[in-house]
Amino acid sequence: MESILAKALGQDVSQLAAAEKRDLLSRLLGRLAHEVRNPLSSLDIHVQLLEEDLASLAPQMREQLAPRLEIIHGELHRLEGIVQRFLRLAGPAGVDLELVEIPRILSHVCELLRPEAAAREIEIAARVDDSLPPVMADPVRLTQALLNLLINAIQAVERKGRVEVNVALTDGVVCVAVSDNGPGIPPEKLAAIFEPYYTTKSEGSGLGLWIAQQIATAHGGSLQAQNGPAGGAVLTMRLPLKREGASG
Ligand SMILES: Nc1ncnc2c1ncn2[C@@H]1O[C@H](COP(=O)(O)OP(=O)(O)OP(=O)(O)O)[C@@H](O)[C@H]1O
Ligand SMILES: [Mg+2]
Repeated sequence: MESILAKALGQDVSQLAAAEKRDLLSRLLGRLAHEVRNPLSSLDIHVQLLEEDLASLAPQMREQLAPRLEIIHGELHRLEGIVQRFLRLAGPAGVDLELVEIPRILSHVCELLRPEAAAREIEIAARVDDSLPPVMADPVRLTQALLNLLINAIQAVERKGRVEVNVALTDGVVCVAVSDNGPGIPPEKLAAIFEPYYTTKSEGSGLGLWIAQQIATAHGGSLQAQNGPAGGAVLTMRLPLKREGASG
């Protein structure tokens, strides 16, 4: 990540703190997405014009060209979707805070994933501290972060196992711990897994944990990984009940 940033920004970033590097990277991605969006929309318009031009061609030509244009159109839409996603995640790491009941968010996330988990014979269990008050959080982004953590846990277990979410309140900090009985994380990779694009999955983007960590940080909290005493990974998101010196 350091060398990508250094090349893109033309400056040495090795002295910056991890949080500053993450922030720079997300701004860089945002800039990239913005700049890619303009040529994309002009491509889109021209493809539409070409589709209109098709009408005046001989039927044989039309039949030959229409499917190709359709593919270009489809791929352009896909690119636009990707750019949109990057703009969203790279936008100012702002959060729309409101009073949120974490158990509600958690049960929503569990319900979303239960069919997939059941198909793999994986049990999802959630335990929430009874004394947990509502917290100031962004429900949409919190849902996204929890989904990323639980999906990783299910993927790590693969089949027949257990994913557990424990929510507890300690010293004004809400701890959301997602643990699984998968293979765990090699100790030398405990930091690397949060790097953008780090993945060990053939179909993974390697952005899931990075995004989840950004979301935790945007709430004034943190996201950390460790291995449980009985093996398996434990991802712990900490969110302060009250944010000091921040207005959102
Ligand atoms: N619960 C877990 N157990 C073991 N390894 C994990 C766990 N969660 C994450 N990892 C490791 O961290 C890597 C990065 O995770 P991350 O969610 O960022 O990306 P991904 O899951 O590979 O891809 P994506 O989330 O985009 O589908 C994973 O590829 C995996 O190697
Ligand atoms: Mg993931």
